[in-house]
Amino acid sequence: MIIKVAASILSLDWSDKTVVDQAVLRVSNADFIHFDVMDGKFVKDKTFDPAFVKSISTGLIKKDVHLMVKQPEKLVDKFIDAGASMLSFHAEATKSPAKLIEKIKSKGVMAGIAINPSTALTKVDKLLDKVDFVLMMTVKPGKPGQKLIESTIKKIKSLAKKKPDLLIEVDGGINAGTAHEVIEAGADILVAGSYIFNSTDPKIAVDILRNS
Ligand code: DX5
Ligand code: ZN
Repeated sequence: MIIKVAASILSLDWSDKTVVDQAVLRVSNADFIHFDVMDGKFVKDKTFDPAFVKSISTGLIKKDVHLMVKQPEKLVDKFIDAGASMLSFHAEATKSPAKLIEKIKSKGVMAGIAINPSTALTKVDKLLDKVDFVLMMTVKPGKPGQKLIESTIKKIKSLAKKKPDLLIEVDGGINAGTAHEVIEAGADILVAGSYIFNSTDPKIAVDILRNS
């Protein structure tokens, strides 16, 4: 089983582009750079627009865009143009999630559905056969540096059991301690921000997560 790591830039001072550019260079061994897009409506804060994501050059590292926005259908084209290889949105945020998944996939981009800790798996049951991956939020969406909510581990396990071939990405509170737990539960891609970028050597932190 190969574990992939997505480095999230949310915990950085991302309003300064040079900070992000330098951070990307420090995690050249990561599989993805994870961009948390917030619109100030679906969650309280506001973050990156498509122009910002496009302006960050990640070289061989792919861009993983996590939309925490209302009406994601209005933004997917722009984030695909910004270079997203993986694109996820929250099912609660749109009226026709199945249609949007098809649209993202038709552009050659991996489509994912994001699930909040409080959202039951049964709510997205019908989408599980359509998506390329599920983004399991292991914290409440919106802020970096939170503690992983333990009850999400059970959800990861039941999703992995239900759909053994489905890619599971986990997001929030991932560090050297929790990585092992989520991998054992069935996670394939680990998103981590604070743990990676607060480490003295972010590259080593990426390797520690991958080999947990
Ligand atoms: C939370 C975001 C996460 C966040 C993870 O709303 O979706 O991607 O950046 O940050 P850490 O690793 O600090 O929990
Ligand atoms: Zn995220």
